[in-house]
Amino acid sequence: YPAPGRCTIMSDLDTVVIKGGATLSGQVATGGAKNAALPLLFATLLADGRYRFRNVPDLRDIDSTALLLEHLGIAVERDGETLTVHAAECEHPEAPYDIVRKMRASILCLGPLLARYGRARVSLPGGCAIGSRPINLHIEALEQMGAEIDIENGYVVARAGHLHGARLVFENATVGGTENVMLAATLARGTTVIENAAKEPEIIDLADCLVKMGARIDGAGSSVITIEGVDQLRSCDHHVIPDRIEAGTLLIAGAITGGDVRVNHCIPGHIDALTQRMVECGFRIDTGSDWVRVLPCDGWRSHDISTAPYPGFPTDLQAQYMALMTLADGTSVITERIFENRFMHVQELVRMGANITPKTQVAIVRGQPGVLNGAQVMATDLRASASLVLAGLAARGETTVSRIYHLDRGYERLEAKLERLGAHIERRPSEPQAA
Ligand code: EPU
Repeated sequence: YPAPGRCTIMSDLDTVVIKGGATLSGQVATGGAKNAALPLLFATLLADGRYRFRNVPDLRDIDSTALLLEHLGIAVERDGETLTVHAAECEHPEAPYDIVRKMRASILCLGPLLARYGRARVSLPGGCAIGSRPINLHIEALEQMGAEIDIENGYVVARAGHLHGARLVFENATVGGTENVMLAATLARGTTVIENAAKEPEIIDLADCLVKMGARIDGAGSSVITIEGVDQLRSCDHHVIPDRIEAGTLLIAGAITGGDVRVNHCIPGHIDALTQRMVECGFRIDTGSDWVRVLPCDGWRSHDISTAPYPGFPTDLQAQYMALMTLADGTSVITERIFENRFMHVQELVRMGANITPKTQVAIVRGQPGVLNGAQVMATDLRASASLVLAGLAARGETTVSRIYHLDRGYERLEAKLERLGAHIERRPSEPQAA
């Protein structure tokens, strides 16, 4: 993975420093969706040839995926927003712990490797900060398609003479599980039907790309997806959909400062759950075919949310929305239904003056305009760090967010985009460590 194109992250110890109080205004563009780009890159394991992916964000998780593909014998080059992938057969279909531990989505190589080579050895991802995040549903589904799977020394070891189609009913609508099965089923013998499939836009994007590769897929975006296996697939070019979570985060950045921000290059329908809640809070929102704008607002009301699979309120915007609710007029109840430990931003927001009582799955936010004060806070995961940056924009005084590498996993230079909208924000490189 060539050095000039690598993700432009400086150091794990960088901080972001924000002087709160600036009202944001202007236009900003959303980049490509991380969570769409990752499964698309794993689709290149299914067929040799040259792929060209446009609108690929320059992020740590994309780097980790490129590293894993390289380990599997696939070359990846970046030129701006375009990734060119030269896929070739791999001799050892194995994903080692050192790469998988950096990025859980690495498990998405299991389905394609197994479908193509009849064997795969993939490190178990382990837990992560937001919850235990098991992969039992991926494994059970692949077993129903004829795979024999064991866990050996921390690795998922899978074998299959040839995968066959099956009728699968997911107990939870799992995004990664749906993607892994879709990838595997493209080359399986016969028809696979996934019931209670995830309906996220990223699933549709993956299906669109796989269809260009020659796969036969119906129903992506609905809860029943049908895949008829084919003998062979071919490479293709594909434009990654815009990142709906980045779009939502930027919109909230405008809202929390009472500003006027238009987010371009997005698909407004993908963030309906957020914009509808914001309208109920009293924000004025305008939309066009590929943009969403929040208009200036003096104050807003609280409104409850409960996270849910798409098209419900996304768990990946829960932390950012909570930052907005800390400054609302009134109390809101925020329920997290997807992950069991996704409230780690709460204690950091409380350190900034917010009044939040966390329970197991529920946080009660007693909103009060002007309540936030700058503080030194620590990012604990990707979306939590975005929430702290948003809170910092609206707080009085200076906020320093450390462990900003979490932010770099999923946002391409968020601070630069916010600065162009008028935020007083800068990334500070880490101090050299004393010997
Ligand atoms: N689950 C199981 N067993 C499984 C798989 C999932 O019990 O085998 C459970 C999970 O523990 C969770 C629920 O099912 O409670 C949903 O998990 P899902 O599989 O849908 O999540 P994921 O595929 O691991 C993706 C995104 C996440 C996003 C979730 C939910 C990618 C790479 N990641 O994760 O994105 O929060 O879907 O929408 O697509 C992020 O970008 O910050 C992020 C965490």
